[in-house]
Amino acid sequence: MHISAVVSAVLVVVPAASAQLNLWALTSGKYFGTASDNPPLPGGSTPDPKYVKKLSDTLDFGVITPTNGLKWFATEPNRGNFTFADADAVLNIAKRNGQRIRGHTCVWHSQLAPWVEAGNFNKKELTSIIHDHCHTVVKHYKGQILHWDVVNEAFNEDGTFRETVFYKTIGESYFATAFKAARAADPKAKLFINDYNIDGLGPKSTGMVNLVKKLKKDKVPIDGIGVQGHLVVGQLPTNIRENLQQFADLGVDVAITELDIRMDLPVTEAKLEQQRKDYEYVIASCKAVKRCVGVTIWDWTDKYSWVPGVFAGEGAPLPWDENFNKKPAYYGILDGWVKRH
Ligand code: XIL
Repeated sequence: MHISAVVSAVLVVVPAASAQLNLWALTSGKYFGTASDNPPLPGGSTPDPKYVKKLSDTLDFGVITPTNGLKWFATEPNRGNFTFADADAVLNIAKRNGQRIRGHTCVWHSQLAPWVEAGNFNKKELTSIIHDHCHTVVKHYKGQILHWDVVNEAFNEDGTFRETVFYKTIGESYFATAFKAARAADPKAKLFINDYNIDGLGPKSTGMVNLVKKLKKDKVPIDGIGVQGHLVVGQLPTNIRENLQQFADLGVDVAITELDIRMDLPVTEAKLEQQRKDYEYVIASCKAVKRCVGVTIWDWTDKYSWVPGVFAGEGAPLPWDENFNKKPAYYGILDGWVKRH
Protein backbone atom coordinates (compact mmCIF):
# COMPACT_ATOMS: atom_id res chain seq x y z
CA MET A 1 0.00 0.00 0.00
CA HIS A 2 1.26 3.50 -0.83
CA ILE A 3 2.33 5.54 2.20
CA SER A 4 -0.34 8.19 1.60
CA ALA A 5 -3.01 5.47 1.64
CA VAL A 6 -1.68 4.27 4.97
CA VAL A 7 -1.71 7.80 6.31
CA SER A 8 -5.25 8.39 5.04
CA ALA A 9 -6.38 5.20 6.72
CA VAL A 10 -4.88 6.41 9.98
CA LEU A 11 -6.23 9.92 9.61
CA VAL A 12 -9.89 9.05 9.37
CA VAL A 13 -9.80 8.24 13.05
CA VAL A 14 -7.81 11.36 14.02
CA PRO A 15 -10.08 14.24 15.04
CA ALA A 16 -9.39 17.34 12.93
CA ALA A 17 -8.55 19.37 16.03
CA SER A 18 -5.42 17.33 16.65
CA ALA A 19 -4.45 16.99 13.00
CA GLN A 20 -1.24 18.54 11.83
CA LEU A 21 0.18 20.17 8.75
CA ASN A 22 2.55 17.56 7.33
CA LEU A 23 0.27 14.69 8.24
CA TRP A 24 -2.53 16.25 6.23
CA ALA A 25 -0.20 17.17 3.36
CA LEU A 26 0.71 13.48 3.16
CA THR A 27 -2.94 12.58 2.60
CA SER A 28 -2.69 14.50 -0.67
CA GLY A 29 0.66 12.86 -1.47
CA LYS A 30 2.54 16.09 -0.66
CA TYR A 31 4.82 17.31 2.12
CA PHE A 32 4.78 20.29 4.45
CA GLY A 33 8.04 21.64 5.81
CA THR A 34 9.94 24.61 7.17
CA ALA A 35 13.24 26.39 6.82
CA SER A 36 15.43 26.68 9.88
CA ASP A 37 18.44 28.87 10.61
CA ASN A 38 21.35 28.33 12.99
CA PRO A 39 20.92 30.84 15.86
CA PRO A 40 18.30 28.86 17.86
CA LEU A 41 19.92 25.47 17.23
CA PRO A 42 22.47 23.76 19.51
CA GLY A 43 25.81 25.51 18.97
CA GLY A 44 24.02 28.62 17.64
CA SER A 45 24.22 32.14 19.04
CA THR A 46 20.87 31.98 20.89
CA PRO A 47 20.08 28.32 21.62
CA ASP A 48 16.36 27.79 22.03
CA PRO A 49 15.47 24.19 23.03
CA LYS A 50 11.72 24.83 22.80
CA TYR A 51 12.22 25.92 19.20
CA VAL A 52 14.17 22.75 18.41
CA LYS A 53 11.50 20.59 20.01
CA LYS A 54 8.79 22.03 17.77
CA LEU A 55 11.05 21.97 14.69
CA SER A 56 11.46 18.25 15.31
CA ASP A 57 7.71 17.57 15.15
CA THR A 58 7.33 15.45 12.04
CA LEU A 59 3.55 15.69 12.18
CA ASP A 60 3.89 19.36 11.24
CA PHE A 61 7.24 19.35 9.36
CA GLY A 62 8.36 16.53 7.09
CA VAL A 63 10.99 18.45 5.16
CA ILE A 64 13.57 20.95 6.46
CA THR A 65 15.55 23.58 4.52
CA PRO A 66 18.68 25.13 6.03
CA THR A 67 17.93 28.86 5.70
CA ASN A 68 21.52 30.00 5.22
CA GLY A 69 23.93 27.12 5.85
CA LEU A 70 24.13 25.81 2.28
CA LYS A 71 24.62 29.17 0.57
CA TRP A 72 27.92 29.88 -1.19
CA PHE A 73 29.24 32.29 1.48
CA ALA A 74 28.78 29.54 4.07
CA THR A 75 29.99 26.51 2.11
CA GLU A 76 32.95 27.89 0.11
CA PRO A 77 34.01 31.13 1.83
CA ASN A 78 37.41 30.90 0.16
CA ARG A 79 38.13 29.20 -3.13
CA GLY A 80 38.45 25.46 -2.68
CA ASN A 81 37.95 25.70 1.09
CA PHE A 82 34.63 24.01 1.89
CA THR A 83 32.87 24.31 5.25
CA PHE A 84 29.71 22.49 6.24
CA ALA A 85 29.31 23.23 9.94
CA ASP A 86 26.22 25.46 9.70
CA ALA A 87 24.43 23.19 7.27
CA ASP A 88 25.30 20.16 9.38
CA ALA A 89 23.74 21.73 12.48
CA VAL A 90 20.38 21.81 10.64
CA LEU A 91 20.82 18.53 8.80
CA ASN A 92 21.72 16.63 11.95
CA ILE A 93 18.42 17.57 13.56
CA ALA A 94 16.45 16.68 10.45
CA LYS A 95 18.24 13.34 10.06
CA ARG A 96 17.73 12.48 13.71
CA ASN A 97 13.99 13.04 13.26
CA GLY A 98 13.72 11.28 9.90
CA GLN A 99 12.84 14.56 8.18
CA ARG A 100 13.88 15.02 4.57
CA ILE A 101 15.98 17.96 3.40
CA ARG A 102 15.78 20.64 0.71
CA GLY A 103 19.18 22.00 -0.32
CA HIS A 104 19.29 25.77 -0.82
CA THR A 105 21.23 26.87 -2.92
CA CYS A 106 24.21 26.35 -5.28
CA VAL A 107 24.27 29.39 -7.55
CA TRP A 108 22.90 32.72 -6.34
CA HIS A 109 24.18 36.28 -6.76
CA SER A 110 23.22 37.13 -3.18
CA GLN A 111 25.03 35.85 -0.07
CA LEU A 112 27.77 34.87 -2.45
CA ALA A 113 31.34 34.41 -1.20
CA PRO A 114 33.04 37.75 -2.01
CA TRP A 115 35.97 36.08 -3.81
CA VAL A 116 33.68 34.93 -6.64
CA GLU A 117 33.05 38.50 -7.81
CA ALA A 118 36.33 40.00 -6.63
CA GLY A 119 38.39 37.61 -8.76
CA ASN A 120 37.20 39.12 -12.07
CA PHE A 121 37.31 35.65 -13.55
CA ASN A 122 36.86 35.05 -17.27
CA LYS A 123 34.16 32.83 -18.74
CA LYS A 124 36.21 29.66 -18.64
CA GLU A 125 37.40 30.19 -15.07
CA LEU A 126 33.98 31.11 -13.70
CA THR A 127 32.39 28.13 -15.46
CA SER A 128 34.81 25.79 -13.76
CA ILE A 129 34.27 27.60 -10.44
CA ILE A 130 30.50 27.01 -10.69
CA HIS A 131 31.08 23.40 -11.64
CA ASP A 132 33.45 22.76 -8.76
CA HIS A 133 31.24 24.54 -6.23
CA CYS A 134 28.00 22.76 -7.15
CA HIS A 135 29.67 19.41 -7.65
CA THR A 136 31.50 19.49 -4.32
CA VAL A 137 28.60 20.74 -2.20
CA VAL A 138 26.00 18.45 -3.76
CA LYS A 139 28.34 15.45 -3.63
CA HIS A 140 29.12 16.10 0.04
CA TYR A 141 25.47 15.37 0.86
CA LYS A 142 24.90 12.73 -1.82
CA GLY A 143 21.86 10.59 -1.02
CA GLN A 144 20.71 12.91 1.78
CA ILE A 145 18.97 15.71 -0.10
CA LEU A 146 15.49 15.46 -1.59
CA HIS A 147 15.60 18.63 -3.71
CA TRP A 148 18.36 21.05 -4.58
CA ASP A 149 17.66 24.66 -5.54
CA VAL A 150 20.50 24.60 -8.05
CA VAL A 151 19.99 28.16 -9.28
CA ASN A 152 18.21 30.88 -7.32
CA GLU A 153 16.69 34.20 -8.45
CA ALA A 154 18.03 34.28 -12.00
CA PHE A 155 15.32 36.59 -13.35
CA ASN A 156 14.42 40.26 -13.41
CA GLU A 157 10.79 41.24 -12.86
CA ASP A 158 10.22 41.61 -16.63
CA GLY A 159 11.34 38.03 -17.28
CA THR A 160 14.79 38.88 -18.66
CA PHE A 161 17.88 37.38 -17.05
CA ARG A 162 19.28 39.16 -14.04
CA GLU A 163 22.69 40.68 -14.76
CA THR A 164 24.58 38.69 -12.16
CA VAL A 165 28.29 38.02 -12.27
CA PHE A 166 27.38 34.58 -13.62
CA TYR A 167 25.14 35.80 -16.45
CA LYS A 168 27.38 38.72 -17.37
CA THR A 169 30.53 36.61 -17.50
CA ILE A 170 29.20 33.34 -18.90
CA GLY A 171 25.79 33.94 -20.47
CA GLU A 172 22.96 31.42 -20.39
CA SER A 173 25.24 28.40 -20.39
CA TYR A 174 25.86 28.79 -16.66
CA PHE A 175 22.51 27.10 -16.03
CA ALA A 176 23.61 23.95 -17.84
CA THR A 177 26.95 23.93 -16.03
CA ALA A 178 25.32 24.12 -12.61
CA PHE A 179 22.57 21.58 -13.28
CA LYS A 180 24.90 19.06 -14.92
CA ALA A 181 27.39 19.32 -12.06
CA ALA A 182 24.61 18.77 -9.53
CA ARG A 183 23.17 15.79 -11.41
CA ALA A 184 26.57 14.13 -11.72
CA ALA A 185 27.20 14.67 -8.00
CA ASP A 186 23.88 13.23 -6.76
CA PRO A 187 21.77 11.55 -9.44
CA LYS A 188 18.88 10.95 -7.02
CA ALA A 189 18.36 14.54 -5.86
CA LYS A 190 15.65 16.42 -7.75
CA LEU A 191 17.09 19.58 -9.25
CA PHE A 192 15.12 22.83 -9.04
CA ILE A 193 15.35 26.38 -10.26
CA ASN A 194 13.90 28.74 -7.65
CA ASP A 195 12.64 32.34 -7.69
CA TYR A 196 10.32 34.92 -6.11
CA ASN A 197 7.43 36.82 -7.69
CA ILE A 198 6.69 33.81 -9.86
CA ASP A 199 3.68 32.87 -7.74
CA GLY A 200 1.08 34.11 -10.21
CA LEU A 201 0.96 34.51 -13.98
CA GLY A 202 3.06 37.38 -15.32
CA PRO A 203 6.22 38.27 -17.24
CA LYS A 204 8.62 36.79 -14.69
CA SER A 205 6.74 33.46 -14.67
CA THR A 206 6.75 33.53 -18.47
CA GLY A 207 10.52 34.03 -18.42
CA MET A 208 10.78 30.95 -16.22
CA VAL A 209 8.56 28.92 -18.56
CA ASN A 210 10.70 29.87 -21.54
CA LEU A 211 13.96 29.02 -19.80
CA VAL A 212 12.76 25.65 -18.52
CA LYS A 213 11.45 24.77 -22.00
CA LYS A 214 14.84 25.58 -23.45
CA LEU A 215 16.76 23.68 -20.78
CA LYS A 216 14.60 20.61 -21.30
CA LYS A 217 15.00 20.83 -25.06
CA ASP A 218 18.78 21.00 -24.56
CA LYS A 219 18.64 17.94 -22.25
CA VAL A 220 19.84 19.90 -19.24
CA PRO A 221 18.85 17.89 -16.14
CA ILE A 222 16.13 19.95 -14.45
CA ASP A 223 13.34 18.38 -12.42
CA GLY A 224 11.45 21.21 -10.81
CA ILE A 225 10.52 24.85 -10.40
CA GLY A 226 10.61 26.34 -6.91
CA VAL A 227 8.11 29.11 -6.24
CA GLN A 228 9.38 31.01 -3.20
CA GLY A 229 6.04 32.45 -2.07
CA HIS A 230 7.14 35.58 -0.21
CA LEU A 231 3.69 37.17 -0.20
CA VAL A 232 1.77 40.05 1.37
CA VAL A 233 -1.50 39.65 3.28
CA GLY A 234 -4.46 40.67 1.12
CA GLN A 235 -2.32 41.05 -1.99
CA LEU A 236 -1.95 37.55 -3.40
CA PRO A 237 -2.06 36.97 -7.14
CA THR A 238 -5.45 35.46 -7.98
CA ASN A 239 -4.07 32.87 -10.39
CA ILE A 240 -1.55 30.92 -8.32
CA ARG A 241 -3.13 27.57 -9.20
CA GLU A 242 -3.12 28.36 -12.94
CA ASN A 243 0.50 29.43 -12.70
CA LEU A 244 1.62 26.32 -10.81
CA GLN A 245 -0.23 24.30 -13.45
CA GLN A 246 1.54 26.03 -16.35
CA PHE A 247 4.86 25.14 -14.69
CA ALA A 248 3.78 21.54 -14.10
CA ASP A 249 2.66 21.30 -17.73
CA LEU A 250 6.32 21.71 -18.74
CA GLY A 251 6.87 18.22 -17.34
CA VAL A 252 8.56 19.27 -14.08
CA ASP A 253 7.65 19.14 -10.41
CA VAL A 254 6.67 22.34 -8.65
CA ALA A 255 7.32 23.19 -5.00
CA ILE A 256 6.43 26.20 -2.90
CA THR A 257 9.77 26.70 -1.25
CA GLU A 258 9.82 29.76 1.06
CA LEU A 259 6.24 30.62 1.89
CA ASP A 260 5.53 33.52 4.24
CA ILE A 261 2.70 36.05 4.11
CA ARG A 262 3.67 39.29 5.79
CA MET A 263 1.55 42.17 7.03
CA ASP A 264 1.98 45.81 7.98
CA LEU A 265 2.48 46.00 11.73
CA PRO A 266 0.78 46.17 14.13
CA VAL A 267 -1.04 42.86 13.96
CA THR A 268 -4.84 43.11 14.09
CA GLU A 269 -7.55 40.44 14.25
CA ALA A 270 -8.68 41.44 10.76
CA LYS A 271 -5.19 41.00 9.30
CA LEU A 272 -4.79 37.63 11.02
CA GLU A 273 -8.09 36.52 9.52
CA GLN A 274 -7.04 37.65 6.04
CA GLN A 275 -3.72 35.86 6.54
CA ARG A 276 -5.61 32.68 7.42
CA LYS A 277 -7.53 32.90 4.14
CA ASP A 278 -4.37 33.66 2.18
CA TYR A 279 -2.54 30.62 3.56
CA GLU A 280 -5.54 28.43 2.82
CA TYR A 281 -5.61 29.67 -0.77
CA VAL A 282 -1.89 28.99 -1.37
CA ILE A 283 -2.12 25.49 0.09
CA ALA A 284 -5.31 24.70 -1.83
CA SER A 285 -3.57 25.86 -5.02
CA CYS A 286 -0.71 23.40 -4.46
CA LYS A 287 -3.16 20.66 -3.54
CA ALA A 288 -5.04 21.20 -6.81
CA VAL A 289 -1.95 20.72 -8.97
CA LYS A 290 -0.83 17.13 -9.23
CA ARG A 291 2.83 17.93 -9.70
CA CYS A 292 2.98 20.44 -6.87
CA VAL A 293 4.93 18.20 -4.53
CA GLY A 294 4.89 20.21 -1.32
CA VAL A 295 5.12 23.46 0.59
CA THR A 296 7.88 24.87 2.80
CA ILE A 297 7.42 27.90 5.05
CA TRP A 298 10.39 30.21 5.60
CA ASP A 299 10.76 29.25 9.26
CA TRP A 300 7.66 28.49 11.32
CA THR A 301 7.57 31.13 14.08
CA ASP A 302 7.40 34.91 13.78
CA LYS A 303 10.17 34.97 16.39
CA TYR A 304 12.75 33.99 13.78
CA SER A 305 11.27 35.38 10.56
CA TRP A 306 13.58 37.31 8.25
CA VAL A 307 10.76 39.73 7.35
CA PRO A 308 11.05 42.45 10.05
CA GLY A 309 14.77 42.79 9.34
CA VAL A 310 14.27 43.32 5.62
CA PHE A 311 10.84 44.90 5.07
CA ALA A 312 10.53 48.00 7.27
CA GLY A 313 7.28 48.10 9.25
CA GLU A 314 6.20 44.59 8.19
CA GLY A 315 6.22 41.27 10.01
CA ALA A 316 4.19 38.46 11.56
CA PRO A 317 4.25 36.37 8.35
CA LEU A 318 4.26 32.83 9.77
CA PRO A 319 1.66 30.41 11.21
CA TRP A 320 3.04 30.50 14.77
CA ASP A 321 3.49 33.76 16.71
CA GLU A 322 6.60 34.84 18.60
CA ASN A 323 5.52 32.83 21.65
CA PHE A 324 5.06 29.70 19.53
CA ASN A 325 1.27 29.87 19.73
CA LYS A 326 -0.67 28.81 16.65
CA LYS A 327 -2.19 31.70 14.70
CA PRO A 328 -5.32 31.55 12.54
CA ALA A 329 -2.90 30.97 9.62
CA TYR A 330 -2.14 27.52 11.04
CA TYR A 331 -5.78 26.54 10.63
CA GLY A 332 -5.83 28.13 7.18
CA ILE A 333 -3.06 25.76 6.13
CA LEU A 334 -4.91 22.84 7.64
CA ASP A 335 -8.11 23.81 5.79
CA GLY A 336 -6.08 24.19 2.59
CA TRP A 337 -5.08 20.53 2.83
CA VAL A 338 -8.31 19.15 4.25
CA LYS A 339 -11.28 21.00 2.75
CA ARG A 340 -12.64 20.60 -0.75
CA HIS A 341 -12.07 23.77 -2.77
C1 XIL B 1 17.12 35.01 3.62
C2 XIL B 1 17.31 34.51 5.04
O1 XIL B 1 16.07 34.16 5.60
C3 XIL B 1 18.02 35.54 5.88
O2 XIL B 1 18.37 34.99 7.14
C4 XIL B 1 19.28 36.03 5.18
O3 XIL B 1 19.85 37.08 5.94
C5 XIL B 1 18.94 36.52 3.79
O4 XIL B 1 18.32 35.48 3.07
N1 XIL B 1 15.01 34.38 -0.98
C6 XIL B 1 15.82 33.29 -0.74
C7 XIL B 1 16.28 33.04 0.64
O5 XIL B 1 16.05 32.49 -1.64
O6 XIL B 1 17.56 32.43 0.66
C8 XIL B 1 16.31 34.29 1.47
O7 XIL B 1 16.64 33.95 2.82
C9 XIL B 1 14.97 35.00 1.40
C10 XIL B 1 14.68 35.39 -0.02
